[in-house]
Amino acid sequence: MTHEKVAFFKEAVKNFKTSGTIIPSSRFLIKRILSKINFTNSKLIVEFGSGNGIITKEILKKLEPSATLICFEINEVFYNELKKINHKQLIVLNASAENIQQEIEKRGFKQVDDFISSLPLTMLPKELSERIIENSYTVLKEKGRFVQFQYSTQFLKQFKSIFNRKVRLDFEPLNIPPAFLYVCEK
Ligand SMILES: C[S@@+](CC[C@H](N)C(=O)[O-])C[C@H]1O[C@@H](n2cnc3c(N)ncnc32)[C@H](O)[C@@H]1O
Repeated sequence: MTHEKVAFFKEAVKNFKTSGTIIPSSRFLIKRILSKINFTNSKLIVEFGSGNGIITKEILKKLEPSATLICFEINEVFYNELKKINHKQLIVLNASAENIQQEIEKRGFKQVDDFISSLPLTMLPKELSERIIENSYTVLKEKGRFVQFQYSTQFLKQFKSIFNRKVRLDFEPLNIPPAFLYVCEK
């Protein structure tokens, strides 16, 4: 295992209820997630649950020069790791995802073009996961996407109800564990 994977494993085990996994996402899963986003049209992308930044670094490679990426990460150790990425288009927040609206408004944004989320929704309190999806829907632009991966289809009904049924499921077998992708469009 690389040094980064070992560090992620230690922190994720300590905080299993909020990390929801012990292994960072595979490159296959990351590629599949990013294929759902049209980066040429995105001015503001928000990532929820960035962890050690394994997806963050790949998003930054695809970002248009005038676009911004805002990351929400509640774990302080991961937050400090993310700060080290130090990219001029990246804003890293030690804040919880449900505060999306206040946090973007503080920075002069009204709407989010696309979301990429690896939050462990099934492990969060039900009211919290609902608030996160509803608040995100509110600030998402028309035709914007909310891409979420999970290890089950448990949230399909809820995403369909909030996104007026505009939800497609995809699957990536080459990840531990294999992951479902919810691709939701406003
Ligand atoms: C499954 S890990 C994903 C890490 C990384 N993005 C990856 O794909 O390997 C989920 C992350 O969500 C963070 N998290 C959990 N609840 C959160 C919340 N309410 N707001 C922001 N981040 C949260 C955890 O601290 C953890 O780093």
